[in-house]
Amino acid sequence: MSHLPDALKVGVDSIDHRHEEFYVLYETLKNASDREFLDAFDAVILHTQGHFSEEETDMEQVVYPNKTEHIHEHRKALEEMNYFREKATSGRVIFAKAYVKERLEEWFRTHLLNMDSDLARVLSITEKV
Ligand SMILES: [Fe+2]
Ligand SMILES: [Fe+2]
Repeated sequence: MSHLPDALKVGVDSIDHRHEEFYVLYETLKNASDREFLDAFDAVILHTQGHFSEEETDMEQVVYPNKTEHIHEHRKALEEMNYFREKATSGRVIFAKAYVKERLEEWFRTHLLNMDSDLARVLSITEKV
């Protein structure tokens, strides 16, 4: 079963595959108990570091005008994740859980629709040439 909603598929397999992986890990994180939370959060952060760096490698392969802005969004998101991970380790799991439920998925969705779909468009045009 696919966790990634059809509306969020961009049509480039490597990108859709990464986003599918994010959704699987995010689902586990969203449903994690307080005791499971940190491990699940670490799994999402680890995935995201790889995910972003693979996208950034893709950006190097083509002429991609929004590279700087896209990378900046990645950096900010990772900073935010690490900030809330820090909160979770210092006993404030409730803040980190609120961030995960109220902000992280929405951020991901918006980023995907604005930035990743744009990168996918550039990649697929380039691959056809
Ligand atoms: Fe992405
Ligand atoms: Fe991205």
